[in-house]
Amino acid sequence: MEIKEMIRLAFEAREKAYTPYSGFKVGAALLAKNGEVYQGCNIENAGYTPTNCAERTAFFKAVSEGIMEFERIVVVGGAEGTEMGEFDLCPPCGVCRQVMREFCDPDSFEIILAKSEEEYKSYLLREILPLGFGPDKLLSSYSVMSK
Ligand code: THU
Repeated sequence: MEIKEMIRLAFEAREKAYTPYSGFKVGAALLAKNGEVYQGCNIENAGYTPTNCAERTAFFKAVSEGIMEFERIVVVGGAEGTEMGEFDLCPPCGVCRQVMREFCDPDSFEIILAKSEEEYKSYLLREILPLGFGPDKLLSSYSVMSK
C-alpha cells in the first residue's frame, strides 16, 4: 500500500481519538505483512495511566486477531482543532517503541511521521530505539536453560 494512502488512514483514525483530558489527538495506520492495515487512535482515561496510545491501539488490534508481522506504521498527531498544514511530527512514546520492538525487526520496520499526505519523515525502529531490549534476550536464555 502507498504511503500516501496510509497517511490518509492515520488521519481518519485520529478523528476517533478519545481525548477529554489532553485534547491531543493521535492516529496511526499499521501495515501488516499480509497487506491489511490496522487503524488506531489514542484512548484516554480518567485514571490517566490506563490511557492507550494510538500506536499501541493499532498493534493490539492486530495482535488480538493473530497478526504479528508488520512492515510499517504511520503516525499523525496534534492538538484538537489543528488544521491541515499546521501539524508537526508526532514521535511515538517510549512505551510504544518498546511494543514495536516486541513484534518488529529493528532493521526493517519503518516508522513514518507525517504532517500531511505530502510531508513526512521516515525512520527505522533501530534509529528511534537504539540498544532496545527485545524478545531475543528472553527467548535465547530460555533456549539455553532448556538445553
Ligand atoms: N499519544 C499517542 O497516542 N501517541 C504518541 O505517540 C504520543 C502520545 C497520546 C497519549 C495521550 O492520550 C496524548 O497523546 C497526550 O500524551
